[in-house]
Amino acid sequence: MAGVLESLSFWMIIGVHVTFLVLAQDVNQFVIYDFKNSGLYLHGMANTHDGPLHLTNNTETRTGHAFHKSPMKFTASSPSSFSFSTEFVFAIIPLQSPPSYGQGMAFVVAPTTDLRYGGTATSGLGLFNRTHDNRTENHILAIELDTNESSDVFDKSGNHVGIDINSIVSVDSANASFFDDKEGKNITLLLASGNSIVIWIDYDGIEQLLNVTLAPVPTPKPVSSLLSSSIKPSVPLLSRSINLSTIFMETMFVGFSGSTGSTRSDQYILGWSFKKGGKAESLDLSKILDPPPPSSPPSSPPPPSPPPTLKQILGITIPTIAFLLMILGGIVYLYKRKKYAEVLEQWEKEYSPQRFSFKKLYKATKGFKENQLLGAGGFGKVYKGILPSGTEIAVKRVYHDAEQGMKQYVAEIASMGRLRHKNLVQLLGYCRRKGELLLVYDYMPNGSLDDYLFTKNKLKDLTWSQRLNIIKGVASALLYLHEEWEQVVLHRDIKASNILLDADLNGRLGDFGLARFHDRGVNLEATRVVGTIGYMAPELTAMGVATTKTDVYAFGAFIMEVVCGRRPVDPDGPREQVILVKWVASCGRRDALTDTVDSKLRDFNAEEAKMLLKLGMLCSQSNPENRPSMREILQYLEGNVKVPGISFDTAGFGMPNISHETVTQMTTASSSANFSYEDVTILFGGR
Ligand SMILES: *[C@@H]1O[C@H](CO)[C@@H](O)[C@H](O)[C@H]1NC(C)=O
Ligand SMILES: *[C@@H]1O[C@H](CO)[C@@H](O)[C@H](O)[C@H]1NC(C)=O
Ligand SMILES: *[C@@H]1O[C@H](CO)[C@@H](O)[C@H](O)[C@H]1NC(C)=O
Ligand SMILES: *[C@@H]1O[C@H](CO)[C@@H](O)[C@H](O)[C@H]1NC(C)=O
Ligand SMILES: *[C@@H]1O[C@H](CO)[C@@H](O)[C@H](O)[C@H]1NC(C)=O
Ligand SMILES: *[C@@H]1O[C@H](CO)[C@@H](O)[C@H](O)[C@H]1NC(C)=O
Ligand SMILES: *[C@@H]1O[C@H](CO)[C@@H](O)[C@H](O)[C@H]1NC(C)=O
Ligand SMILES: *[C@@H]1O[C@H](CO)[C@@H](O)[C@H](O)[C@H]1NC(C)=O
Repeated sequence: MAGVLESLSFWMIIGVHVTFLVLAQDVNQFVIYDFKNSGLYLHGMANTHDGPLHLTNNTETRTGHAFHKSPMKFTASSPSSFSFSTEFVFAIIPLQSPPSYGQGMAFVVAPTTDLRYGGTATSGLGLFNRTHDNRTENHILAIELDTNESSDVFDKSGNHVGIDINSIVSVDSANASFFDDKEGKNITLLLASGNSIVIWIDYDGIEQLLNVTLAPVPTPKPVSSLLSSSIKPSVPLLSRSINLSTIFMETMFVGFSGSTGSTRSDQYILGWSFKKGGKAESLDLSKILDPPPPSSPPSSPPPPSPPPTLKQILGITIPTIAFLLMILGGIVYLYKRKKYAEVLEQWEKEYSPQRFSFKKLYKATKGFKENQLLGAGGFGKVYKGILPSGTEIAVKRVYHDAEQGMKQYVAEIASMGRLRHKNLVQLLGYCRRKGELLLVYDYMPNGSLDDYLFTKNKLKDLTWSQRLNIIKGVASALLYLHEEWEQVVLHRDIKASNILLDADLNGRLGDFGLARFHDRGVNLEATRVVGTIGYMAPELTAMGVATTKTDVYAFGAFIMEVVCGRRPVDPDGPREQVILVKWVASCGRRDALTDTVDSKLRDFNAEEAKMLLKLGMLCSQSNPENRPSMREILQYLEGNVKVPGISFDTAGFGMPNISHETVTQMTTASSSANFSYEDVTILFGGR
């Protein structure tokens, strides 16, 4: 016991030593009048060249997305933290010829800035495509401003406002109108009239009430913010009771989404105020730009002017051309310099072998083109690339606000770049730019194990021997990290979604060093516990101390995940199966362990399955001392040593006795970054 305590305090000291803090200012509110300089994330046809946010233009079948770059934090434990309020002014300019209103747009709160499932979907307001509609894992709240009755088959009337949860089918909607307090009656409002309209969206986390209120911007516009706030009608158009704690994840982004089909329009946001945890500052309508006039059909070319004389050409044009070329050259030079600009400091010189130039990564990924995207989450995006040598790579772009701690972080990356094991995803190097860090890995053509375990695609079903091989591979990678390398390396987030599959379907442990870094993590406190519910050992949850034995605990959960084809915590499962380890234990008591094996597996070796499940249970014991080491685990897996008998009676093994509802809440809050290429931490100082 003394030994454990000693090593615990050793870990603590070392842990503190390597933990650094990246501070980001906590942006809970903002007001934007000039979108051009607001640094929004823009996708598709959204642009801000002219000042306002131009969400969709009149090109057919395209989408536009724009998100504020600050993630918003919502804590499941305090209902009031879900309160938010926003006010924005929009204008939807219909196309004159052929006349059409477009499909509409939506205010969106989403766990990612990358609405992948809407990226190709032009119906559904660029939010969901048909396969991804109405899924609880979407975690999306949208307030739709729908201008077309047929923009989705489910909508009955055009020109309506709706509240959407995870689906384009609104949970509540109403024809667009506003309550005129003077007249005391509702007045219909045409959304796509080309005129500016204000909308207020208010959610009170304690009352659990979401209100949506519209009003036209008066013409002429009010001259001060005092007057403009008085135009808010006293009666909301929609007022709906919603429990957002089940929909929001811990980190959410706010923004807009819009699409065009054969019907199209120019959609603009002209001003936007947002506040989390209270009432958003009223927009000063006097500062709001006027919407541009309806786009006219292309005008005919101007009449040709008489041809210039030879003298004119020689005398005027040549010097002019030379001068223009010079300016152009200068612009191109400056543009390229800016485009490929990096941050390279003196102390970084020693890491130059691991340094990639941004230009090289830019070219490898074809300019970080959308179609090179492999995945995205709150932390940033991962792109596929090909180096001039033909090597395929995955480039992870992590956005961050702070430079503090960067030196230590780069040192960690450099160390991790020296790890070599056939079951690790190789970290090739990094690059640094202002506000952004790029990590370069080997490309894994088969994506993450998660996709294989939980897919309905028959082609992706893994056989028994493939699963066993993956478990063995991951075990040997962990043994290398824990015992065979020059320093002790903890992974800290072992789970199926962090295991990638190479071309031969070997399991490779993914991700290096983002434990404290991915975008959601930029304002981590030093004491933050990294991990995922269901894989976290009880002592890790309680004390926040990661050790090789907490990795072993997670590995146990991972074994059961692969054998049973279920996540460690499955809130949607039957009651007795919600917590996988408990279910396996209860089947173990009845001597029916193999009942838990994934039903997708038609052929499996019952002896091996029992061995793996017992091993999983052995790793899941609440006392860290009783868990085997990775070296022992590998011996069990190879069949050299028999897994010792265990008692299934102490079932639960430290999993707290939590209700179904808590589980839902906990998983919602913790699974927001379940893309692969995740957390690894090095503990410096040897062992
Ligand atoms: C609309 O936006 C797309 C994408 O940004 C652009 O290619 C296209 O030229 C724009 N069309 C018009 C009419 O402005
Ligand atoms: C609605 O969309 C359909 C097909 O996309 C189009 O034919 C129709 O004109 C649109 N209606 C309006 C009012 O824009
Ligand atoms: C929906 O989007 C996903 C991800 O982009 C894509 O794989 C899928 O094929 C899309 N489905 C449809 C029906 O477009
Ligand atoms: C959405 O999903 C829920 C639950 O799975 C179901 O009850 C509902 O009918 C679905 N709605 C649509 C429009 O498919
Ligand atoms: C909404 O508008 C549509 C078409 O203008 C109309 O048919 C429908 O009755 C309206 N619904 C309500 C609730 O007023
Ligand atoms: C929503 O509207 C109702 C009814 O007008 C009002 O009582 C409530 O305070 C409003 N809530 C918010 C958050 O604006
Ligand atoms: C105005 O519209 C609101 C929301 O649709 C409705 O609750 C209210 O009864 C309407 N009031 C009148 C006077 O029609
Ligand atoms: C909202 O949902 C959460 C999680 O399911 C639950 O704990 C809470 O009690 C719910 N609140 C209300 C008022 O229903």
